[in-house]
Formats: sequence, structure tokens, C-alpha cells
Amino acid sequence: MRYRLRKRTESPQETQKFGEELAPGLGPGTVVAFFGELGSGKTCLIQGICRGLGVVEPVTSPAFVIINEYQGRLPVYHFDLYRIKSLFELYELGCEEYFYGSGVCLIEWAEKAGDLLPEDSLRVSLRRLAENVREIAVNGNVDIGPYTA
Ligand SMILES: Nc1ncnc2c1ncn2[C@@H]1O[C@H](COP(=O)(O)OP(=O)(O)OP(=O)(O)O)[C@@H](O)[C@H]1O
Ligand SMILES: [Mg+2]
Repeated sequence: MRYRLRKRTESPQETQKFGEELAPGLGPGTVVAFFGELGSGKTCLIQGICRGLGVVEPVTSPAFVIINEYQGRLPVYHFDLYRIKSLFELYELGCEEYFYGSGVCLIEWAEKAGDLLPEDSLRVSLRRLAENVREIAVNGNVDIGPYTA
């Protein structure tokens, strides 16, 4: 189902709350691709999504590893592809096992996944409008729980 949503937030807490609201719509095999410059709020939003998925451990940007794994009501795989140097490097990490597996994949710097990114990924773009203001656009074809129109 075609799904579009736009949200403007005015604090990190509000962004996290929005993430929590998105979580019920994510199911086994959902891939969420995050786009947006440094500091646009990708990790912040992911923290909220993880909370909504029942993850209790702290969620931080996986700075020195490419993938962090958490356990919520589903396995959650948090990717940060900022430092990926080639598609082959990502492929070698076994990304397809994750992308086409039964957990939820949350991918920061998703543009770096190129054609490895599944076509039916939910796409989330963040834009910094001011110091504390972010615009978040969600686009996809998935069934997303309470937001399904
Ligand atoms: N409305 C807002 N939503 C999200 N973050 C905000 C907001 N206002 C201010 N911030 C601040 O912006 C920063 C967002 O950082 P975050 O690590 O989430 O960005 P990121 O997109 O993951 O960056 P990176 O590309 O480095 O991983 C935080 O310092 C946060 O406090
Ligand atoms: Mg980040």
C-alpha cells in the first residue's frame, strides 16, 4: 500500500516520539532506509523506533561497527553505512541475509547501499530546517499499522 507521511519536529524528544509511533507498523522483513546529512536526526529517530519496538538497551550510532543488533519484539539490525567504502564491502558483510531476513533493518546513510537496497524499502528522509527543527518525510509501499491510509 502506498504510504506517505510528513512530520515537522521541534526537538529531539519529538523526533523520538514520532519514531515510537512508526514502530507498530514495522514487521518481520521491513527495511527502513534513512537519508539525511550529518546531524539531521537519523539516529535520534531510530532511537524512538527502537523504543517502540521494545528494545531496552541503549541505541547509539554504530560508529566503529557497521551493524548493531538489538532484541526487541523482533530482532533489530541497525546499520550505519557512512564508512562503507564499496558495495562489495557491504555485500561481504552478508547484508542480504539481513535485508531479506525476518528482523527489522534500520539503515543510516542508505544511499551507500546502492542497488543492494531492497526496492520495497520504506524511505525516510530528514532535513534540518533550523537548530532544533527537522522535517521528516516517510515514503513507502508497506503496510504501516496505525498510519495505513
Ligand atoms: N528536532 C530534532 N530532531 C532530531 N534531532 C535534533 C532535533 N533538534 C536538534 N537535534 C539534535 O540534532 C542532532 C541529531 O543527531 P543524530 O545523531 O540523530 O544525527 P544523524 O543524522 O544520525 O547523524 P550522523 O549522520 O552523524 O549519524 C542531535 O544532537 C540532536 O540533539
Ligand atoms: Mg547517526
